[in-house]
Amino acid sequence: MTTRNPFVAGNWKMNGDIVTNEHLFTALRAALERVSIAQVEVAICPPYPYLGQAGAWLNDTGIAWGAQNVAEAPNGALTGEVSVSMLLDLGCRWTIVGHSERRTLLGETDETVARKVSMCVGGGLGVIACVGESLDEREGGRTEAVLARQVAAIAPALREADPARVVLAYEPVWAIGTGRTASPEMAQQAHAFIRARLLEAGVGGASQMRIVYGGSVKPSNAVSLFEMPDVDGGLIGGASLVAEDFLNICRAAAVA
Ligand code: PGA
Repeated sequence: MTTRNPFVAGNWKMNGDIVTNEHLFTALRAALERVSIAQVEVAICPPYPYLGQAGAWLNDTGIAWGAQNVAEAPNGALTGEVSVSMLLDLGCRWTIVGHSERRTLLGETDETVARKVSMCVGGGLGVIACVGESLDEREGGRTEAVLARQVAAIAPALREADPARVVLAYEPVWAIGTGRTASPEMAQQAHAFIRARLLEAGVGGASQMRIVYGGSVKPSNAVSLFEMPDVDGGLIGGASLVAEDFLNICRAAAVA
């Protein structure tokens, strides 16, 4: 049997400023002194300008920090982009790639996402690669076809990857920021499907890769989701901006 350490990441999206971040970091540090979540791998992904601040507050806590996006090229004339090596330079251990907001609002294709995943794997940066269907796709019975297509695009880049540095995030688009959550059974079904597709595509490490759920995870639903055998933690948006909620979700991952 494979044991996978739970993984919980906070995706702050485009929220925060120096002062409010400081309150959040202070509360996270204080709570960590009271409660052990040692067996859970935790990462915070603030906007780029605050990565240095995250490093200053978190570097002695065991909580990692990372970015929400990365460039698909190593360096060069790409105004506004940030590379894998720059993130590593700032102490990042992770980056999110292919979030649905970037796919739908910022035009990222499966191919873009695949190139970004490949950059991370090649450069040694942990990658949290997001996949998930829209409401139309789910209601049209196309969930598995969409997940299969998104997974097929990134699988070649994952074949040689260290499984400890790859996290897949199943984020049904209709559940993100909406208060609607996939049921634990729906999440389990999607996660098992994603893992099976990875294995079929020759990603030998897929049974050790964490597949986390994202989409309106809250302290009240976290345990039931994380108890599912293929749900290895969460990618947390809104609730990661409230220290106590985020910590309670981490605790849920520790007990589930
Ligand atoms: P949410 O966002 O928890 O606010 O639904 C999750 C995400 O988009 O990563």
